[in-house]
Amino acid sequence: MDKIIIQGGRKLAGEVPVSGAKNAALPILVSALLTEGTNTFRNIPNLVDIKTARRLLHNLGVRTEGNGTVRVDATGITSCEAPYDLVKTMRASILVLGPLVARMGQARVSLPGGCAIGARPVNLHIKALEEMGAEIRLEEGYIDARARRLRGARIYFDLSTVTGTENIMMAATLAEGTTILQNAAKEPEVVNLADVLIGMGARIAGAGTDVITIEGVPRLHPVEASVIPDRIEAGTFLIAAGMTGGEVRLTGCEPDHLDALIVKLRETGMTIDVEANGIQALGTRRIASVDVKTLPYPGFPTDLQAQIMAMMTLGQGFSLIAETVFENRFMHVSELLRMGADIDIQGNRAVVRGVPRLLGAPVMATDLRASASLVLAGLAAEGRTDVSRVYHLDRGYESMEKKFAALGADIKREKA
Ligand code: UD1
Repeated sequence: MDKIIIQGGRKLAGEVPVSGAKNAALPILVSALLTEGTNTFRNIPNLVDIKTARRLLHNLGVRTEGNGTVRVDATGITSCEAPYDLVKTMRASILVLGPLVARMGQARVSLPGGCAIGARPVNLHIKALEEMGAEIRLEEGYIDARARRLRGARIYFDLSTVTGTENIMMAATLAEGTTILQNAAKEPEVVNLADVLIGMGARIAGAGTDVITIEGVPRLHPVEASVIPDRIEAGTFLIAAGMTGGEVRLTGCEPDHLDALIVKLRETGMTIDVEANGIQALGTRRIASVDVKTLPYPGFPTDLQAQIMAMMTLGQGFSLIAETVFENRFMHVSELLRMGADIDIQGNRAVVRGVPRLLGAPVMATDLRASASLVLAGLAAEGRTDVSRVYHLDRGYESMEKKFAALGADIKREKA
């Protein structure tokens, strides 16, 4: 398996382009299931999760071609099944459930099962589809859903769920009547998907607020649309600039999506200048410790929790980091400890006492963002850090080591 090898201690400097958002690209590719004809989606990042989504679509009889700009044609769907071996490698595969039931009247999707960052059930997706009239049976580890035509319903999500909101919003576009989603997720990726669906002829109002109203239509048509920039990738580079005392300019990003992080980074002492489609970040010599609590958007993203914790290991004081979105999302902690960090976990909170320096070490992580935090720690540490299990990084970051190398980091990939 590939490894990333880092000689730490270099200040990052220069410009880095932000790729398309993984978490927007996945539901947008899947939304093609709702249409006949060829959709054209631009700014699709080149990631392992995107390849998995395309394999999932191919299995259903959907044709996809191109990279970056991807054409997706779901005219001839030949199967309604998402098998276990794909769903277990990428939980977002659950996103085919709503569109398949809506367009084909049936779907068989493997239950995702456990995952590294907590139980992550899909009960809210299932309950909402039932409320729209789908008959659902759980058997042999699969969700078997059927409905002649889904009907609109008032749905209240107990918890704010991103893919749950996306799944049910897609299903509702072709339902009979009006669906109202309450306590809907407000993430920019939900808004991006809603805009794509509206381009297909869907009638959706309120995306980006916690009440989304969808008036069902009999059919949708193909569309040409673009994926928004990846706010988590952008945030990871900003934090890297802070940890190395560097000066980095992000291009092609959407600063408005990063407000919660920018506020925190300014509190650490970093200088952050926001431009129309870019952000200029300047590190500080002394990183002030800040407290962070993860929350659904527009709160601080759980997908940046591991990275900001890596930064806080070098803070001048104590930082309290509370993870409220997922249980068990502190797998990076034991590895950061091996690099000399001082972190104490108490339930869903971590107390991070800043240390003067981190020391390079061989490390590995079992999840995408945890792996990113280890790369950041390696960039700031003294000496050599080997990050193994790089396939986690490849799921969600496009050429991460190349982008860091272009900013002056001493980082390379060793092929297995
Ligand atoms: C999405 C993102 C992921 C991000 C997360 C939270 C994608 C592909 N992935 O994941 O990167 O970390 O949002 O911002 O967009 N829950 C239930 N029952 C359900 C659904 C969710 O209890 O049916 C719980 C989850 O266990 C979790 C919380 O709700 O504790 C939020 O999860 P959710 O927003 O659904 O995360 P994902 O959509 O899986």
